[in-house]
Amino acid sequence: MGAKRILVTGGAGFIGSHLVDALISRGNDVIVYDNLSSGRLEFISHVMDRIEFLERDLVLDNDLEEAVKDADHVYHVAANPDVRIGEADTWTSVEQNIMATYNLLEAIRKCRRNDPPGFTFTSTSTVYGNATIMPTPEDYGPLMPISQYGASKLAAEALISAFSDNFGIKATVFRFANVVGSRSTHGILVDFIRKLREGPKRLEILGDGTQRKSYIHVSDCVEGMIHATESQRPSFEFYNLGTDDSVNVDGIADIVLEGMGLQGASKVFTGGHKGAGWKGDVKFMSLSVDKMRSTGWTYKMNSEKSLRTALKELLEN
Ligand SMILES: NC(=O)c1ccc[n+]([C@@H]2O[C@H](COP(=O)([O-])OP(=O)(O)OC[C@H]3O[C@@H](n4cnc5c(N)ncnc54)[C@H](O)[C@@H]3O)[C@@H](O)[C@H]2O)c1
Repeated sequence: MGAKRILVTGGAGFIGSHLVDALISRGNDVIVYDNLSSGRLEFISHVMDRIEFLERDLVLDNDLEEAVKDADHVYHVAANPDVRIGEADTWTSVEQNIMATYNLLEAIRKCRRNDPPGFTFTSTSTVYGNATIMPTPEDYGPLMPISQYGASKLAAEALISAFSDNFGIKATVFRFANVVGSRSTHGILVDFIRKLREGPKRLEILGDGTQRKSYIHVSDCVEGMIHATESQRPSFEFYNLGTDDSVNVDGIADIVLEGMGLQGASKVFTGGHKGAGWKGDVKFMSLSVDKMRSTGWTYKMNSEKSLRTALKELLEN
């Protein structure tokens, strides 16, 4: 297969920059479209001479048609991924996750009606809300997200489904478990490391510590995304992308304390919202990854190994 021209929105962020590395190593031509709101130039500086970098905003700039004009494929990774802001701010996820996705799809519809590029979307396990079946399969329903973030991602999935059907866009949607690894700027490991660097004697833990979720290392996540996108046959498909096991928050605290040599620190639980970290936090999450496995993909690291590897990577930087 010859080089493909691939547009990656959010390509300067945590997952996006790893995706860019993997796409380049496969010989593709990559265009990164990112407003650097949470992305960092340092995450892509090592490949800057091999990519086209557009510092642009999916909501504010009107040049998306130009960006999608020659693309063979679009990976839409950009979003505001902060689940916690939803209680105080209900607009950001609508604008950054729904409107931004609509703008991108609309640009494709307008200028690539007869020849749309493929489309891959980074969604989330939070679309399931407090699921009653675990591990949760892709066909679980009804989908009742409990965060503004989860709701906005579900709305974006619905838009992609309609655009896919109406305008022939071959689309793949991935619902990620919690993704961890180097260049991560948010999430539980980053939070614990920051708190312990500020005060090594005491670790504040949101919730009651029994929250239990599934984790995937960013290297497995990116490989899975590319593999399933490239091997997919139907015009629209969903995949959970995670691991089979899970780790509770108290266990993650122990992994971090051990990794930082701070086993003597006291753990202080906030109690949070009904034992979850905050209002909108899903307390228990475990995804069925059988559908991904049926494509021939498998992860290399389970949740615990992913967390330990990511911790090491984050502490080294
Ligand atoms: N990290 C996780 O655990 C996780 C879990 C589930 C889903 N996701 C999804 O994966 C994707 C990547 O997440 P991440 O953790 O790498 O987050 P991130 O914040 O590191 O990356 C998001 C990127 O999008 C860019 N961006 C944001 N708004 C933009 C806009 N309006 N125009 C252009 N660029 C914009 C940011 O600058 C950043 O580079 C997101 O869609 C997120 O919702 C992440």
